[in-house]
Amino acid sequence: MDKLLIEGGTPLSGEVAISGAKNAALPLLCAALLTREPLTLTNLPALNDIDTMLNLLAQMGVRVERETSKVGAGGTASADTPGKSGTATLDASGLDNPVAPYELVKTMRAAVLVLGPLVARCGEARVSLPGGCAIGARPVDQHIKGLTAMGAEVTVEHGYVHAKATGLKGRLKGARLFTDMVTVTGTENLMMAACLADGETVIENAAREPEVVDLANCLVAMGAQISGAGTDVIRIRGVDRLHGATHRIMPDRIETGTYLCAAAATGGQIRLTHTSASYLDAVIDKLMDAGCAIAIEHNALTLKAPLRPTAVSIRTSPYPAFPTDMQAQFMALNTVAEGTAVIRETIFENRFMHAVELIRLGADIKIDGNTAFVTGVPKLDGATVMATDLRASASLVIAGLVARGETLIERIYHLDRGYENLEQKLVALGAKVRRVK
Ligand code: UD1
Repeated sequence: MDKLLIEGGTPLSGEVAISGAKNAALPLLCAALLTREPLTLTNLPALNDIDTMLNLLAQMGVRVERETSKVGAGGTASADTPGKSGTATLDASGLDNPVAPYELVKTMRAAVLVLGPLVARCGEARVSLPGGCAIGARPVDQHIKGLTAMGAEVTVEHGYVHAKATGLKGRLKGARLFTDMVTVTGTENLMMAACLADGETVIENAAREPEVVDLANCLVAMGAQISGAGTDVIRIRGVDRLHGATHRIMPDRIETGTYLCAAAATGGQIRLTHTSASYLDAVIDKLMDAGCAIAIEHNALTLKAPLRPTAVSIRTSPYPAFPTDMQAQFMALNTVAEGTAVIRETIFENRFMHAVELIRLGADIKIDGNTAFVTGVPKLDGATVMATDLRASASLVIAGLVARGETLIERIYHLDRGYENLEQKLVALGAKVRRVK
């Protein structure tokens, strides 16, 4: 299993291009299931989660053509950035097996995103329950509740959700839906299902995440009638069919935030291109509170770190508040900041696993339920640590970049799920990082 060896202590400096957003790409790939015509997605990041989703779609009968451009991640042509971002064209005209097996769903919870589109297009679907994952139980009851309200008969047997539309000609029926909590993939699943339902669907308490808006934009380009995406009430008027389209995937706001945090923690100065500050208000605000100077351009961001950051307290909440997917990276930043930060995690019940690993590097962290108290120390010391989930791994990378001496991060397959060309990008920023087989 690959490991990442980091020799810390170098402030990050230079410029890298940000890749397309993983969390936008995954639902967008599933949107291809809604039409018999080809859907082309550009700025598709080269990530293990994307490969998993493409394999899942292929085994359902979707034809996938993938072009990996020779340009760097995010589009900068450079021999130093061998990014494999590219274009995929998905043709679901031959969709004949609306089943998502356990072997694929267990490795990636977002596979549940096929459920809504499959029931809408085929009238039924069998999708494995995702099961538990490292950051909590993460049930899919809201996805099921919504589809049931749209007239699907849903049974859960042998670990599989079996949903069957009972409307005329096997169609779902438009309905008024209210989710008990804000759920991102739940909103996306139900929005996709509603596109081909009979009549109007209203999703209340909808997620407002930019990735939901990116998906809605693509669905509208495919002929869907959607209004309100980006607010907490989304209205979808069902149509008989959707057609093909070409859509460029939005930049990855969490990858952007992760590099900003890494530069802030190491006392560096970096410029990130092919990205946008517009989805990052909460994160940029906290980085400025930490003492960073940030300059915003149309498609780029520059951060200049202070000599030592000031501790910043955060509380995670659905968008537009501070994202749970940036909590771990800010914990790493706070480990070397001046003062004490209070970090409250309100989305997931078990998302502090990086804390024990950061403590192994010398961090001063106390956990009490969903709250972590982080008191900054002047220096961390390199050690061997273990990555436990995607964003936890990112926090260990940041800590490793700051720590004195060598840090060896084990189980970095989590990073390969969500960060395109991580080592190459860090090396381009002057970091001493290498992958050890
Ligand atoms: C998505 C993101 C993930 C991010 C998370 C929260 C993707 C592919 N993943 O995950 O990176 O961390 O949003 O911003 O976009 N819940 C239920 N029942 C449900 C659905 C959700 O109880 O049916 C709970 C979850 O356990 C969690 C909370 O609701 O506590 C929010 O989860 P949700 O927004 O659904 O997360 P994901 O969509 O899985």
